[in-house]
Amino acid sequence: MAVKPLIAGNWKMNGGGGAGIALARAIAERAPEVAGRCDLLVCPPAVALAAVAETLAGSAVAVGGQDCHGQSSGAHTGDISAPMLAEAGASFVITGHSERRGDHFEGNALVRDKSAAAHDAGLIAVICIGETAAQRDGGQVFAVLSEQIAGSLPQGTTAANTVVAYEPVWAIGTGRTPTAAEIAEAHAHIRAEIARIAAGAADLRLLYGGSVNPENAAELLSVDNVNGALIGGASLDAGSFLAIALAAS
Ligand code: 13P
Repeated sequence: MAVKPLIAGNWKMNGGGGAGIALARAIAERAPEVAGRCDLLVCPPAVALAAVAETLAGSAVAVGGQDCHGQSSGAHTGDISAPMLAEAGASFVITGHSERRGDHFEGNALVRDKSAAAHDAGLIAVICIGETAAQRDGGQVFAVLSEQIAGSLPQGTTAANTVVAYEPVWAIGTGRTPTAAEIAEAHAHIRAEIARIAAGAADLRLLYGGSVNPENAAELLSVDNVNGALIGGASLDAGSFLAIALAAS
């Protein structure tokens, strides 16, 4: 069975107010152009999630959070739980993004707990993994990916409740991407590792992320075992985001 690609925009700390609603509206207007070709997802900042979800209601564009806590409620100042995201209109949540792992010192065990919380709340976890430049230079890519997969994917991971995004840290926001061959070998390794621990790994969507843009999208999205993209900067413009989606098939 062919896996339908997922084209996901991670807005990061952008589009929090009226700009986010305008962006969502512009994407929704053009979403019918990619119908049947791929699924669309946008992940706005938490404060904008409910408004963006309301803007996108009835459209084919899904909404996701960018992070969640590992517990459903409690004394955790500043945090947001997976059930809260679901109630606000999310059906996905990103976990373990390298900016969370780096800026907030999140390790694999915490990412696993957050992803399990996402599953418990009925959300699809978009679990991010990827090596740093130093790890790639040190020949550790496969070892790092194996460790992140074993540590970050919770028990009960399936193709229905999880998407895994391969985002080499050195490719994020830099304009640099791995070669198609490097992505192919990383994604083949990731799928084999997931198959050791999760059911239905052949159907689990593996996204590539890191400097995806309308110019390189067709090549990156045609690599074996790439089932979509997780896009940062280029997802902040509806035209660029849709152009990337149009390159998916
Ligand atoms: P860029 O597309 O800006 O490189 O960001 C990728 C990313 O981190 C998506 O989560």
